Amino acid sequence: MEFLTPAGPNSTDRQTVLGKAHDRIDGPLKVSGLARYAYEYHDVAPRAAYGVVVTAGIGRGSIDSIDAVDAERAPGVLLVMTHLNAPKMFGQNAAAPNDPRLDHATPQLQGPRITQHDQAVALVVAETFEQARAAARSLRIGYKAQSGRFSLPAMQVEGKPHPRVADIDMGDFDTAYASAPVRIDATFTTPNQSQAMMEPHASLAFWDGDRLTVYLAHQVMHWARSGIAGTIGIPEAQVRVVAAYVGGGFGSKLALYSDAILASVASRQLGRPVKITLTRAQIFNHTTHRPPTIQRLRLAAGHDGRLIAVGHETFTGDQPGERGELASNQTRLLYGGANRRIHTRIAELDLPRGGSMRAPGEAAGLLALENAMDELAEKLGMDPVELRIVNDVQYDPEQGPSRPFSERKLVECLRTGADRFGWSHRIATPGQVRDGQWLVGMGMACAIRSNPVQPSGARVTLRPGGTVLVESAMTDIGTGSYTIMAQTAAEMLGLPMAAVEVRLGDSAYPKASGSGGSWGGNSSTAGTYAACVALRDTLARRAGFDGSDVSFDKGLIVSGGRSVALAQLVASGPVTAEDTMTYGDLTRRYAQASFGAHFCEVGVDVHTAEVRVRRLLSVCSIGRVLNPVTARSQCLGGMTMGIGAALMEELVVDPRFGYFVNHDLAEYQVPVHADVPDLDVVFVDGEDTKSSPMKARGVGELGICGVGAAITNAVYNATGVRVRDYPVTMDKLLAGMT
Ligand code: MOS
Repeated sequence: MEFLTPAGPNSTDRQTVLGKAHDRIDGPLKVSGLARYAYEYHDVAPRAAYGVVVTAGIGRGSIDSIDAVDAERAPGVLLVMTHLNAPKMFGQNAAAPNDPRLDHATPQLQGPRITQHDQAVALVVAETFEQARAAARSLRIGYKAQSGRFSLPAMQVEGKPHPRVADIDMGDFDTAYASAPVRIDATFTTPNQSQAMMEPHASLAFWDGDRLTVYLAHQVMHWARSGIAGTIGIPEAQVRVVAAYVGGGFGSKLALYSDAILASVASRQLGRPVKITLTRAQIFNHTTHRPPTIQRLRLAAGHDGRLIAVGHETFTGDQPGERGELASNQTRLLYGGANRRIHTRIAELDLPRGGSMRAPGEAAGLLALENAMDELAEKLGMDPVELRIVNDVQYDPEQGPSRPFSERKLVECLRTGADRFGWSHRIATPGQVRDGQWLVGMGMACAIRSNPVQPSGARVTLRPGGTVLVESAMTDIGTGSYTIMAQTAAEMLGLPMAAVEVRLGDSAYPKASGSGGSWGGNSSTAGTYAACVALRDTLARRAGFDGSDVSFDKGLIVSGGRSVALAQLVASGPVTAEDTMTYGDLTRRYAQASFGAHFCEVGVDVHTAEVRVRRLLSVCSIGRVLNPVTARSQCLGGMTMGIGAALMEELVVDPRFGYFVNHDLAEYQVPVHADVPDLDVVFVDGEDTKSSPMKARGVGELGICGVGAAITNAVYNATGVRVRDYPVTMDKLLAGMT
């Protein structure tokens, strides 16, 4: 089914199951331990051998020597694989830089060159995990280390050119900025950060003839499948990947790593299943992370607050060929202003490879932009909420009114939030409110997150007895995919939730959007919708109905005053339909994004500068809310991550060796329960008919976008100190408070 024109009335509008609060149907499995993750499949491969990946102890250089004699002789060892004996693998290279078959390829052990710390240098496979680990420790690897480029600020040398990425120049920024009555020029830095999801990257691989099956932790099944097939050089059709449950991803599991690739080739070589998990300590350097940024914001406005010049220049860094953190992107759509300079430059770094993390782009960019807006509001003597409202635009500022937003209710979010939060009680002058040892302040910020949709398919089967099975290669990374897809099928077929079973995370099912970029919920339910429309047509024909008034309700199919029980239509066998929702050019014709407004109250200890978030409210506009429980939970997660971004999360680089020192969950600090107050989430009513037939938009990552800035704006309001170097830790804040 193609989604080519804005959605009119359709069968999702009834909202008897969709739009209603449903707890996650996988919840009981999760809390009882019955939901199985990649490393926990014992029955499908009972003789699995255990692999341990050995990763590089230098950040840049080469392997000089490998002494594997002791490792190979160690008890239980079945295989020691290094670059000296690994099979040939394939990846993007200069000869074929744009071969789409190799888009997700991740070759391992292909030579002595080390380009990042904790790159895989060997795999040891043994009968037991303990034997593999012991043998791995007896492997002696000699390195020739080279110096590397590990610091982004050190790469920012006056006059040194760096490649530009997607630059936007409109009007005459320099002249407009220089002549505007009110200006701010502020530079912000954001650090390397880690996704820090709970489930480690793990894989179990086994072969049946030339057919490979890999149970793994991944967000997008067809990327995993093509990545493995491309890397090891076999047709995609010979690879099946399975990830029925994924313990968080946050972008880290959009890519493949050594566990999946090495388990696959070792299993082929040994003729038995091989399972590998990365250790927590390896994950921080071996897998992708959020790259660092230095962002210069220059905003200029008239006395009325209207932006005249918008400058957002991001400097980021990454491994050659990677994209860094595109932190300026959201500035293209969030506010008006005729003169614009929105640039990104990228430097080559030898730190571990960057990648997507928790709203890549917006999450880092709004920390800077929304702080700069707060600074501008203060300079204007204007309320920060009002400043946002006067700069609202209902169309893409670059394209003009010919490209309106599909649905933009940012002003409603701002007004609703200000009212609910008690914003009018804020005292604009910083440092005025004291509660015992605490300096108290309020801050706010806007949220925007792009709304991509992806083609997504499903197969829906009405089974004898009248129950429904939904199968799709969609993933559920802790987000609620199982639940909202069940709601969609229940709504479409007029059945209760209990009559619907959903099976996900298997490339044997119809190809689906997977989870990433906030597209999963909207896209995967739209695919379910398409398959259900096809099933409804088949069932209507079976029932002998050809009218346009066919409806499905309470287990019956109804038309022209006549009804037939669904169970009766499948008495002699199941009926199946399959379809994929694809998209036309509505994303080009309409700017599409989810919006929100965050409001925060903090207390800052007057003696120690300890920051406690006291209240946090997010008002979100995401089109139609498919399930208020799962949507709210997504926001709560994002808001919690926003607390982390504002106050604690940072991968600390050892500049000598180019690795992240705090590579465990004790030292890489994320918010814990004690850091998180009761969070308040409100969704404004809405319907986005241009986004999908579900009339919804993405919500997954909206919660993190802007929250950090709301918090640091509140810290400024409490203390009068603005720290522009994230995270705002006690040392930095205290330095300004004396
Ligand atoms: Mo997301 S960071 O696109 O999983």
